[in-house]
Amino acid sequence: MNAKIVATGSYLPKKILTNKDMEKIVDTTDEWILQRTGIKERHIAEEEATSDLAYEASLDALRNTNITPNEIELIIVATVTPDKPLPATALFVQEKLGADKAFAFDINAACSGFMYALSIANAYIKSGAVKNALVIGAEELTKITDYKDRGTCIIFGDGAACVLLESTEDEDEGILDIRLHSDGHYTDLMQVPAMGSVEPCSKEAIDNRDIYIKMKGNETFKLAVRHIIGVSKESLKQKNMDFKDIDLMVSHQANKRIIDLVAKKAGISPEKTVVTIDRHANTAAASIPLALDWSVKNKKVKKGDTILLNSFGASLTWSAAVIKW
Ligand code: UT7
Repeated sequence: MNAKIVATGSYLPKKILTNKDMEKIVDTTDEWILQRTGIKERHIAEEEATSDLAYEASLDALRNTNITPNEIELIIVATVTPDKPLPATALFVQEKLGADKAFAFDINAACSGFMYALSIANAYIKSGAVKNALVIGAEELTKITDYKDRGTCIIFGDGAACVLLESTEDEDEGILDIRLHSDGHYTDLMQVPAMGSVEPCSKEAIDNRDIYIKMKGNETFKLAVRHIIGVSKESLKQKNMDFKDIDLMVSHQANKRIIDLVAKKAGISPEKTVVTIDRHANTAAASIPLALDWSVKNKKVKKGDTILLNSFGASLTWSAAVIKW
């Protein structure tokens, strides 16, 4: 049994913050942001919760299927910005959808979160435990972004996207391989220092701005390029493939320069890469499904295509998957 993507969906909150708007918030320029990251604008959630974005993305995916919410068996939400610490955001999504027969939970693997969730759902389907699964990446990173830190605030945005997986008996289609990695030696590269058991919410945590993302961007960048190439090769090799065999590479959208460098080093032509970071910025767990959904809606993907997904995130997690569409 394989797991196959039968639908994709996405949702972006209405409010847009352009680089020009960013110039009014921190000491930066539109040119610097565009040149160093490829970002032009990002979406910002105001009244909506992460589960609202996830719910809208799910409706978008279900719209073109004959599956009703009541038939969904598993819901996984990948997020680092849950509605609340407790309960899981996936339960709010389940309730909003009326997916009463599903079981639902969240996972946190930062920007690799969607890939980790996809691998879990894949395993459940392959084992025969469930016949379908809704895998969602949803984030409101702007809620944990420090708008006094120009080194980080320019790259993050909000959004949600998802895939609906179904089992197939055709072993040559769907998710052919998926590889996950993590390295706990690098937890200081990217973290929110407070709001957990180590440093619960306090006035001091707020005053020190420890409730926001801290990131060593430059070091993270270098590791990202190396690990994305390594894990992608590893995943392709499992299927006796190489970079030349792929039709499309859908990468985590952290920085356009990372995507370009990976493509250059792997010998993948720019037309085979997907770039949505200009409009979405970095939306962590939502970024790969947002880019995939955009590719589907814009007819960049056709039946029989070999698609390489790859991710890199805090800190450190990285992964790749090979999909036959
Ligand atoms: O999502 C998964 C994990 N995250 C990533 O993969 C992020 C990877 N990292 C990055 O995308 C980049 O490191 C950033 C976009 C975050 C930063 O770009 P950078 O080219 O690595 O900049 P930098 O931190 O090395 O800073 C270079 C210079 C510094 O000035 P000096 O010291 O050379 O005078 C910074 O102060 O650029 C300055 N700078 C800025 N200037 C204008 C940093 N941020 C800004 C800014 N506007 N927003």
